[in-house]
Amino acid sequence: MSKLTILKYGDPILRKKSIEIKDITQDIKKLAFDMLETMYAAPGVGLAAPQIGVNIRLLVVDINPPDKKNPLIMLNPVIIKAENKIDMEEGCLSFPGFYEAVKRFEYVDAEYATLDGKRKTILANGFLSKAIQHEIDHLDAKLFIDYLADWKRKAVEKEIKRKKKVGQW
Ligand code: CO
Repeated sequence: MSKLTILKYGDPILRKKSIEIKDITQDIKKLAFDMLETMYAAPGVGLAAPQIGVNIRLLVVDINPPDKKNPLIMLNPVIIKAENKIDMEEGCLSFPGFYEAVKRFEYVDAEYATLDGKRKTILANGFLSKAIQHEIDHLDAKLFIDYLADWKRKAVEKEIKRKKKVGQW
C-alpha cells in the first residue's frame, strides 16, 4: 500500500463529476486500499477518489479511524432513502483546518458495490450518515462549502487565498 497526495480546494479535479466504475480491476482494488491508508494517515473519516486525483465513483469511510477496524469501501454508491435534515459540524481533508455546520440527513440508506462486485445496502445514521453524504457529494463535484451561506463561503475562500499567498495551501 502507499500513501497518496490529497488534493486541496482549488484543484479543478475536485470540480469534475466522477464516472461510474464498470470493471473492478486490480488497479481499482489497489487504489481503494491506498485511499484507506491515506485516510488513516491524514487522519480523516472519509476520502473520495477525486480527492486523490481520480474521477471515479469510489470512496472510503471509517468513522473511528484510530481503530482501523471498520473500513467501508463503496463503489458506485447511491443514496436510496434519506430522512430528517439536521445541522452537523463537518470538515474535509481537502480543506484542512476548516469546520462548518452543514445541513445533512440524519438517516440515509445507501446502496453500493463492494470490491468483490457484490451489491450491498447500508443503513447509516448520525456521523456515518453525514460522512457518506459528504463523500458521495465529492463524486458529484460538490463540496461542503457549497452548502454555506454566501458570506460564509466567501470568508472561507478569502482565508484560503490568504493561505495560498503565504504558501500554506
Ligand atoms: Co471532503
